[in-house]
Amino acid sequence: MPCVPQIPYIVRPEMEVALLRRIACTVNGVRREAEVEPRQLLVYFLRETLGLTGTNVGCDTSSCGACTVLVDGKSVKSCTMLAVQADGTEIQTIEGLATDGQLHPLQEAFRQHHALQCGYCTPGMVMAGLGLINEGADMSDEAVRLGLEGNLCRCTGYQNIVTAIQDAAGKLRGEQVPAGAGTAGTQGGS
Ligand code: FES
Ligand code: FES
Repeated sequence: MPCVPQIPYIVRPEMEVALLRRIACTVNGVRREAEVEPRQLLVYFLRETLGLTGTNVGCDTSSCGACTVLVDGKSVKSCTMLAVQADGTEIQTIEGLATDGQLHPLQEAFRQHHALQCGYCTPGMVMAGLGLINEGADMSDEAVRLGLEGNLCRCTGYQNIVTAIQDAAGKLRGEQVPAGAGTAGTQGGS
């Protein structure tokens, strides 16, 4: 097979500046403006540009959900979105949940129901759960599990996570926790 010579792609400094795009968005209630490369993923904008490292990168291939944040109230895997697409949006990350030293009711429910373990998947689980609560999703066991299908936990079961989300949904919406909800301390399988 003939050898095809590699042509180096040279980006001159003035080209780099021209390639940058200015974006402005609200992150955890604070307006943020920055120059970003058009190819920069939202997760790296949050972690590296803004220093919000609670949003994790588990796979970079949109499989694990560790990078889940809320964009305009809806849960989004931030490794599947470009930072430039976040221009003009309102973003919420795990850092924005607790206020005045008080855990958000969903974080409190995770604590009470032993729904967290390694801390790697947990921010994504919490944000995905909050997305479900925000959208008024059905809180049956099955529906919550379906809603979390894009979030992987490899070290524990999912039952306590489901229970915590149901419990917080009940408190935030003023509803009863579904009868099928598990109990604190129960380590169920997926
Ligand atoms: S890092 Fe985004 S889904 Fe895994
Ligand atoms: S508690 Fe983090 S991967 Fe399961």
